[in-house]
Amino acid sequence: MNTTRRAPLLAPSFLAADLANLQAETELLANSAADWLHFDVMDGRFVPNISFGLPVLQAVARYARQPIDVHLMIEEPQNYLAQFREAGASGITVHYEACPHLHRVVQQIKQLGCRAGVALNPHTPVALLEDIAADLDVVLVMSVNPGFGGQAFIPNTLKKVAMLKELLLDTGSEALIEVDGGVNMDNAGPLVEAGADVLVAGNFVFSAPEGPVATLARLREHLAGVEMGAEAAGRRQ
Ligand code: DX5
Ligand code: ZN
Repeated sequence: MNTTRRAPLLAPSFLAADLANLQAETELLANSAADWLHFDVMDGRFVPNISFGLPVLQAVARYARQPIDVHLMIEEPQNYLAQFREAGASGITVHYEACPHLHRVVQQIKQLGCRAGVALNPHTPVALLEDIAADLDVVLVMSVNPGFGGQAFIPNTLKKVAMLKELLLDTGSEALIEVDGGVNMDNAGPLVEAGADVLVAGNFVFSAPEGPVATLARLREHLAGVEMGAEAAGRRQ
């Protein structure tokens, strides 16, 4: 068995950044261990909160060095895909629960040249993705109820990630598994072991006293240890 895995990608979430200093925050992240920049859009309808949207994305994109991973927590996302692409999105993730015509929306995202992602709320079973998994570039597993940063990680996510990993293998999907909500140093390792490829982190990264750059570096180092442990265990098998 090939036990070599790609190092997980780290995606700090702007929701927890200093929104009065987005240029400085983006430039800081440019020289950090961040692989993607996670951008949470909330409409006050799909989720009970409003965050930021197109003009803010455009402003961030002027200073961003990493791909911007746009997470649309909005109803009728199909109406805004081209605008988010134009504003600077590299990847666009829509919610399963917001899209009755999900297959069409996924194709639209891909036609724009973006990575296409689908997010699942904590109550939405991974099995519902069976017929679309092979079309996806990313599946985002919500590990909190979407709408707010700083919430506690829902432990059932670990089981869900492992089940999703199986489903992706069974369906021949190459989609990355992204986990979003309450990610920190305690659950990052187990998440990667369960199959996560991308970890989103907001509060953990931006509220740490040592700042986002040092925190991302520490998380990266911690996960390198987890990877080495997994490879050593694989060799022993
Ligand atoms: C929640 C958002 C998350 C949020 C994560 O609705 O989708 O991306 O920013 O923040 P933390 O890591 O603080 O839970
Ligand atoms: Zn998010």
